[in-house]
This record gives sequence, structure tokens and C-alpha cells, in this order.
Amino acid sequence: MNPLAVRLNRLELPNPVLAASGTFGYAREMTPFVDVSVLGGIIPKTVTPQPRPGNPPPRTVETSGGLLNSIGLDNDGFDQFMAEKLPYLLSLGAPVIVNIAARTTDEFRRMADVLNSQPDIAAVELNISCPNVSGGVDFGTSPERAAEVVAAVRAAGDLPVIAKLTPNVTSVVPVAQAVADAGCDAVSLVNTFQGMAVDWKQRRPVLGNRLGGLSGPAIKPLALRIVWEVAQEVDVPIIGIGGIQCLDDVMEFLVTGASAVQIGTASFYDPGVSARLVRELRDLVDQEGLRSIRDITGTLT
Ligand code: SIN
Repeated sequence: MNPLAVRLNRLELPNPVLAASGTFGYAREMTPFVDVSVLGGIIPKTVTPQPRPGNPPPRTVETSGGLLNSIGLDNDGFDQFMAEKLPYLLSLGAPVIVNIAARTTDEFRRMADVLNSQPDIAAVELNISCPNVSGGVDFGTSPERAAEVVAAVRAAGDLPVIAKLTPNVTSVVPVAQAVADAGCDAVSLVNTFQGMAVDWKQRRPVLGNRLGGLSGPAIKPLALRIVWEVAQEVDVPIIGIGGIQCLDDVMEFLVTGASAVQIGTASFYDPGVSARLVRELRDLVDQEGLRSIRDITGTLT
């Protein structure tokens, strides 16, 4: 038995360390620096039905302990992804979880139909939480709309469904409950926190789109709080995201209630971090004599 293997309802992964969407490109950029085959999963950048140019520059700015981005879901569109990016991703030896966003439930459903016809994809992650596009957070801030999208994608076939939720609500719990009831296999907690950087001398916001999404170590305590709240209230596997950069961070998310984690911003300044964390987790499991990493999840007292 593989002690690092995890199961999130219908989704089985060889280990709980995944590369987060939007921080790993479409993996081609990362393969010179990291053995991606050892990862628990790769989640490439969000794909939308049509190509999108993204938001005006500047699109990123470093802040204290964090990164503020306003990319705006820049991508070449779903057809191009399926034809040119997916075959390469699937050749890398790690489970591939395709991340999609759309403006309507129907668009989500149409992409899910196509993804379900591709047997090698491990799961689909629904980005219903991007703070940088108009309408981008609507699904994730409404329990009803979030549930509607999950139900539609679930109905498209057997592909496991993950809902990536926004922290930009008073409480994530009702949205997590709604998507769990609608049949998602797991929730990814959390996407970025809406924020702003200001150049006071110019009297201007730094980002071209004024507002952006904050990620990195600055948000780890906030993300842990949300993982804990959802783990207390909702019976759904959680994938923790938020400022994870070392093994202790991984373990903090697992004991708080996550079954797996995604490594995001850290990959920008330390591209090998995710593969290294898999190795370190394996060593820790050996040293501690753990039967399975699953036994760690939710052990916070
Ligand atoms: C973006 O493309 O703006 C970032 C993706 C996200 O926050 O979901």
C-alpha cells in the first residue's frame, strides 16, 4: 500500500501534493526545473470556452508576504487547450486535473461534456472564484449558482468534480455545503483574497485592473481558518490552498482538515518546491511510522 495515496470521493491520487492552477503554466515551463511525474496532480491554468486576452498590465505586484495578481484568465481557449496543451500534460505521468471557468452554466456543461470524453483526465476543477473578471466570482459567492454549476458538470459524466471556492464572502461554509450537496467530490479552499496595492506618489492603484487577488504566505492563516470552518461543518474532502511553502505548512493544512494541498505562489520563486514536498512528506511518513497520510487529516484537537 502507498502510504501517501489519498482518496477524495471518486478521485484517487498517488499523494496529496498538487500544483495549483495559474502557478504552473501548462507544465511545459516547469519541466526543466521539476520532476512533475512525482506530483499528486497537476492543475494547469484556467481554460475558458473562448480565448481571452486578460487584463491590462501591470498584472502582478509583490506585497508584504504575498503576491497580488490580476491576470484576468488570459488563455488561448478550450479548443486550443484540448488540441495542443492537454496531450503534453497527459504525457507527464502525474494526474491532470483540468481547471475551467465560464460565464454560464451551459458553457461549463459543454466543456464538461468534452472533458468526459477524454478518459485520461483525472478530474475537473471548476474555477467559480476568480476575483479578476467581471462576473468571475458570481457563481462562487452564491450557494445556489455554485450548486447549479456543480450539478450541471456532474451530470455531464463520471469525471470527478472539484469546486474551487472564493474566500471573498462572509462565510465559505454555505457555498461549500451547497456544492457538496450538488455532488462535487472535493472543494479547493481557497482562491485569492481580493486586495489592492497603491502607489501613493502617483495617486494610482498599481495594478492595471485596480484590484487583484492576494496569494502567498500572507494569506496562510486566513486559508487555514476557512479550511477549519468548512471541515467542522461540511462533509466534503478539502484541498487546502494558501501560502504553502514548506512541509510544516502542508502538515498544518492536513491536520486542520485538508485531505490534499495545492502549492501555488511558492512555485514562482521556488519551481521545485512541490516535488520536494512530496519527497519530504514521504520521509516524514517513514520517520513517524505512519500507516497512511490519510490518518493525519482533521486530527486537530
Ligand atoms: C486570473 O487569471 O486572474 C487568476 C486566476 C484566479 O484567480 O482564479
